[in-house]
Amino acid sequence: MYEFVPRRLLVTGGCGFMGSAFVRWVAERRPEVRVTVLDKLTYAGNLANLKDVENKPNYKFVKMDICDFDGIYKLMQDEHVDGIIHLAAESHVDRSIKDPFTFAQTNVMGTLSLLQAAKLYWETLPEKWEGKRFYHISTDEVYGALELTHPQGIEPPFSTKASSGKHHLAYGAKFFTEDLKYQPHSPYSAAKASSDHFVRAFHDTYGLPTIVTNCSNNYGPYQFPEKLIPLFINNIRHRKPLPVYGKGENVRDWLFVEDHARAIDLIFHEGKIAETYNIGGFNEWKNIDLIKVLINTVDRLLGRKEGEDLDLITYVTDRAGHDLRYAIDSTKLQKELGWEPSLQFEEGIEKTVRWYLDNQEWMDNVTSGDYQKYYDDMYKNR
Ligand code: NAD
Ligand code: DAU
Repeated sequence: MYEFVPRRLLVTGGCGFMGSAFVRWVAERRPEVRVTVLDKLTYAGNLANLKDVENKPNYKFVKMDICDFDGIYKLMQDEHVDGIIHLAAESHVDRSIKDPFTFAQTNVMGTLSLLQAAKLYWETLPEKWEGKRFYHISTDEVYGALELTHPQGIEPPFSTKASSGKHHLAYGAKFFTEDLKYQPHSPYSAAKASSDHFVRAFHDTYGLPTIVTNCSNNYGPYQFPEKLIPLFINNIRHRKPLPVYGKGENVRDWLFVEDHARAIDLIFHEGKIAETYNIGGFNEWKNIDLIKVLINTVDRLLGRKEGEDLDLITYVTDRAGHDLRYAIDSTKLQKELGWEPSLQFEEGIEKTVRWYLDNQEWMDNVTSGDYQKYYDDMYKNR
């Protein structure tokens, strides 16, 4: 298959959880590619997440807001950018419920300014779109929520078969496929949905070479501890209450972040322009069951009695508009590009819990706010 070969990559949001996983992936495996990371360093951006690559000759960091159209246009010119991987976003549903404006500003207007800068810059080049690619990272939440269904009265999870032919456990008969209508419920997913529409509109209207992927919940190292898994690992370690929303019945489909980074790299190089690909692990978990796995794993790794900390579970008021179930069908990606998750969930969770326990300093810097001084130490006086 033809492989698109970018030389000058712009990665937005590269200091966040997933962005940094992708940058580490590319910087190590594709030394011929020059990677410029553009990040505003909001509360979610942490330069320490890129410590492993900061001395690599093919890596550069630029502090910038994706809403800064002039700045982006100039940066694209200066760096001769030929490929964009767009991950920068406000990403936390609970924050979007409190402050929807910031989500519209960054996720919608920021994406639009990036699209317009790419279009205007690439249009000035003699080869125009040729050898260019704008890859937008989206989420499964844009599809809305699925039901927990009981086919033939069977209590979920039940074994089912994806169209790929593989068996897996599911909490309902329906899955998110690429052709589903968008039905976002939270301000976060509404803003992501809107940005996806703009990306597709730039392809359909101007011919900009775009790709969109919609991924399920990621877990792994370097995730900001406002999200369920790192927050709960840290709380279990310090024996703090674990705030479970509602009855803990909501279902999410979990994917190890490095499997997502590998999927992005593959789709960026071999995916078809104007296509959408779903990325997910066929790995559904009810929150409360996942939380029990976390408690058992942390307890075991800390040498405590397994399950000793189950009484930290504290049921709290549910998230407003809480989506019941997400479940991605990633058959298209598997069939067309041969991608599959590489890790079993048990293995991924063990690896993840170990990472947070072994990297308490990272966690302490994040929870104390010290991580935000890293930029000043590294770049201010250069
Ligand atoms: P994150 O919150 O950890 O990181 C977001 C990054 O974007 C941070 O580095 C932040 O500083 C930067 N950023 C925010 N606003 C910016 C702005 N205005 N200009 C420049 N940079 C800005 O998020 P994440 O979990 O790594 O998610 C990355 C992307 O993947 C997002 O687009 C998100 O919607 C999408 N996504 C996430 C998941 C998941 O489970 N984490 C799943 C599917 C899709
Ligand atoms: O599905 C992909 C999405 O996954 C991404 O697009 C988002 O950026 C990412 O934040 C994530 O969204 P969720 O809302 O699913 O993730 P979160 O970690 O916030 O919550 C996971 C589940 O756990 C959800 O059902 C809410 C619940 N929860 C979460 C927190 C933080 C709790 O019960 N208690 C908590 O304290």
